[in-house]
Amino acid sequence: MNIKIKKILLKKNKSKIISLTAYSKNIAEILDNHCDIVLVGDSMANVLYALKNTNKITLKNIIQHTLSVKQGIKKSLLVVDMPKGSYDNLKDALQNAKLIVRSTGCDAVKLENNKKNYKFIEVLVKKNIPVMGHIGYTPQFKNKFKIEGDTKKKAEQLLKEALLIEKAGAFSIVLECITPQTSRIISKTLKIPTIGIGSSSYCDGQILVTDDMLGISGFYPKFVKKYANLKRVIEKAVKKYSREVILNKFPSTKNFLNGTKLK
Ligand code: KIV
Repeated sequence: MNIKIKKILLKKNKSKIISLTAYSKNIAEILDNHCDIVLVGDSMANVLYALKNTNKITLKNIIQHTLSVKQGIKKSLLVVDMPKGSYDNLKDALQNAKLIVRSTGCDAVKLENNKKNYKFIEVLVKKNIPVMGHIGYTPQFKNKFKIEGDTKKKAEQLLKEALLIEKAGAFSIVLECITPQTSRIISKTLKIPTIGIGSSSYCDGQILVTDDMLGISGFYPKFVKKYANLKRVIEKAVKKYSREVILNKFPSTKNFLNGTKLK
């Protein structure tokens, strides 16, 4: 078993699993020092491409961004979202998962659950492709952004899904927008770690979309805590640059290339 995955599994009931998303090397490099898992999420649809949903993200998009992210990763587990339409049937799932892993060198892929792809997980895992599951609000298959698992019946259904994903061989599972009570039951029942987003602190780990927590995406549902306001920082810097160019303060003689050295 991949040593990085083993480490993640060993954290269950011991210490929290830290995860964030990345779509490029510079951010990945910073995250790598602090995260157990870095996810190249198809949330790049909203965050980078200003799309309304994740439907149009392609394998090519995912692979290109993963190649960039991979250059910033030394120690964390690199997980990559399989985009919508890339795992509609078993043949596609296997072929495209292999393509993602071989062309990027990532450690694992993530599949959103549509209640029909448990068998896909099983086959991928048997072919040595580690899989992370994803239940609750699964943007590829649900149009409505809402709280999940908020009735007894829905909670039972989610637990059933989680157990089937675990049985299929996934090494962990994302719980998105699931009520605290239901996340707690799922996290306590499963042997594999749960990674929550909007699903309370009962999960074994947490994930957020990095651009959201840095205050740069403009998307701040209740479960997002803004750890920085990068929008304000960037705005301040750009404003200063603009002023200095107008006032002929930049470039100063310090920035002139008079000699032979560029740096
Ligand atoms: O695409 C993504 O960023 C995700 C996380 C929100 C878990 O799937």
